[in-house]
Amino acid sequence: MLLSALFLVSFLPSALSAPSFRPPCAPLSLISPYQSVWSCSDALFHSFPNHWSNPTVGMSIMAAVDSKVVRIMGPPNLSKTDLPAPVQTSLEVLPTSTNYVFALFDSVQLNVTWTTPAHALDDDSVLNSKDLPVTYLTFSATSTDTSAHDVKIYFDTTAETAVNDVSTEVSMSRSSTASTTTLSVGSSTQETLSSNSDLISWGYQYVSVPTSPDVQTSLSGDVAARTAFAETQTLPSDDETLTRACNDDWPVLAISFGLDVSPGSVASSQVLVSYDEVDTMDYFGKILQPFWKSKFEDIFEVIDFALSNSESILSSSQAYDTSHISEIEAVGGSKYGQLLSLVHRQVTGAITKTLSPDGSEPWVWMKEISSDGDISTVDVIYPAAPYFLYTSPETLRRMFLPLLTYAANATGADETFDYDLPWAPHHLGVWPTCDILANQQEQMPVEESGNFLVMIAAVAQAQGDVSYLTPYWDILSTWADYNVASLPDPGEQLCTDDFEGPSPHNVNLAAKGIVGLGAYSALLQMKGDEEGAERYMKIARELVGNWTSSGTDVDGTHTRLQYDLDDTWSMKYNLLFDRVLDLNLFPDDVVEKELEYYDGKSNAYGVPLDSRADFSKSDWLMWAYAMGSQEQFDAQVEALWDFANETPSRVPLTDWYNTKTGEQQGFQARPVQGGMYARMLLK
Ligand SMILES: *[C@@H]1O[C@H](CO)[C@@H](O)[C@H](O)[C@H]1NC(C)=O
Ligand SMILES: *[C@@H]1O[C@H](CO)[C@@H](O)[C@H](O)[C@H]1NC(C)=O
Ligand SMILES: *[C@@H]1O[C@H](CO)[C@@H](O)[C@H](O)[C@H]1NC(C)=O
Ligand SMILES: *[C@@H]1O[C@H](CO)[C@@H](O)[C@H](O)[C@H]1NC(C)=O
Repeated sequence: MLLSALFLVSFLPSALSAPSFRPPCAPLSLISPYQSVWSCSDALFHSFPNHWSNPTVGMSIMAAVDSKVVRIMGPPNLSKTDLPAPVQTSLEVLPTSTNYVFALFDSVQLNVTWTTPAHALDDDSVLNSKDLPVTYLTFSATSTDTSAHDVKIYFDTTAETAVNDVSTEVSMSRSSTASTTTLSVGSSTQETLSSNSDLISWGYQYVSVPTSPDVQTSLSGDVAARTAFAETQTLPSDDETLTRACNDDWPVLAISFGLDVSPGSVASSQVLVSYDEVDTMDYFGKILQPFWKSKFEDIFEVIDFALSNSESILSSSQAYDTSHISEIEAVGGSKYGQLLSLVHRQVTGAITKTLSPDGSEPWVWMKEISSDGDISTVDVIYPAAPYFLYTSPETLRRMFLPLLTYAANATGADETFDYDLPWAPHHLGVWPTCDILANQQEQMPVEESGNFLVMIAAVAQAQGDVSYLTPYWDILSTWADYNVASLPDPGEQLCTDDFEGPSPHNVNLAAKGIVGLGAYSALLQMKGDEEGAERYMKIARELVGNWTSSGTDVDGTHTRLQYDLDDTWSMKYNLLFDRVLDLNLFPDDVVEKELEYYDGKSNAYGVPLDSRADFSKSDWLMWAYAMGSQEQFDAQVEALWDFANETPSRVPLTDWYNTKTGEQQGFQARPVQGGMYARMLLK
């Protein structure tokens, strides 16, 4: 019996055999680090969604079938009794969409699908691209009995997406064209880029639908709008006071429309949720606007474009999801597919694009979400790099540009901002303001110099081009020489895992320094500097000899956490790019011995980061095991999948968690999860 069941499973197509997966939070609308809305409950109707940083986002959805009403999202604030909930029959998170399926009164199946077209990252035409500041909310209904049904959908959002303090005064308005009806809300003051809060307090939230006779809209208090729909499926007229505090009777942008459900066909319609940030980034005094502004006159053009091209945009994102998942499943099976689908929007939701200050090219920015809000932290881009190297090396290159410009004193700011350090910078400032002085940096010299050299070499290999580096060869050589001088033992320096406290004489940091020198050699090779390439490769090789002998623990089975501490170990994830870049500096048997040793340390939810604690980092775990055998890799994917599926911490996937209890240790929603793509680079 058991045997035949196993036999059957292995021959089913993966989509059918994929186990059901409970994400700790499901991504709903992830447009930018500010507009990042998640559902952290098993069922969409159990709670309101949340911003990645936890505050409630008061969005609600209801549906009526032949005048019987259920709640679909959020426990709507009603004046009277609670509404019944439907049966949620499935929740599936795909790379660009999250799809919920509900059974309503045994008569209608309703799919509620949130799609942020977070793919085609380097398509600067904007079409099909992440650069559209929109999320599509698609409602598709089918009859599950033999009758026709009159279905009505209600959607609203409070102004909580547009303020960082709910007592802020907001202004609502409406507009319509022949083709679209749009409601909007934003803070009354509109002081752009005025705060470092994780929540935005400027710009405008828009909710739009295609204009049609049965569309109703209302700008009114949450209780009034939701109760009216629940009781009569009509919406109240607009409130008299369209300017008031966000929490003063919670004004909502409310929309409802009908779906004529007849047996044998699908009735479908969309709500478009979009956000105009107005200004996105202050780069040393130059104000940069969202990239889409270079392609569209205003947000209304974006809305028209997005709604009139919804069919092609949604079908290309669906096609992307299908092919992306099948590539992942081919490397790591269906659980790997589910994990990477979950992190896809987490990574893309942490980046945003503008034009460069001179308007000549697109620049990309990454927010160090949840750890401290820094802009384009080099040791956060580094763990995320596998995602970008796999899907869009050009996006990663564009993330380097603001940092390289800063390191080369080319920001155009006065000389107080001159960068006079002989190693790579850590970050640019706290979102959304780049204004950090060199001596205010969180100094991680070998770490960031190594990270930068490795990533630049990886992009150069992927693109076969180093021409954009012409203004930067001098600083790259300074960083490489700094690392030569700091190795083999980086001494007291901080490495990226500083959340664990300092770890001097760090062996994994030394490995990064060495791989960085190999990477620099590869770059010089591409530049045509044979002599330089050989010189740095020779230094790197010598350092590997030293690393292996001084780094190995006395019992000879593995390498240490610190050169000076026996009986310690740590995952040497920094060896990954020795393989990705094909440098062949570290012998294969060193890596094999390491992984075998880690295997013996694995807990229910995977191998800890090092000998100091039971917690791990999902990004580094997947970096390390990307180098393992298929069997070793699969076992850690299984452990990580179990963690995500079972963790009691309902936050957008944390990368720092306890491998025994599955609890979050800290951090959530961080883009570093892009590191889970590491194995895709070695496939
Ligand atoms: C109404 O909804 C808001 C979120 O939009 C929530 O913070 C508030 O607590 C709710 N009020 C009641 C009475 O449930
Ligand atoms: C609803 O979602 C399910 C599960 O993904 C899918 O099989 C079905 O085709 C969808 N129905 C519609 C009408 O989109
Ligand atoms: C930038 O300016 C500082 C301070 O003047 C100087 O030390 C440094 O060498 C300059 N960097 C470059 C790349 O020119
Ligand atoms: C490695 O380098 C350190 C520091 O330079 C030195 O003390 C040690 O002897 C070297 N070990 C080997 C085996 O070369």
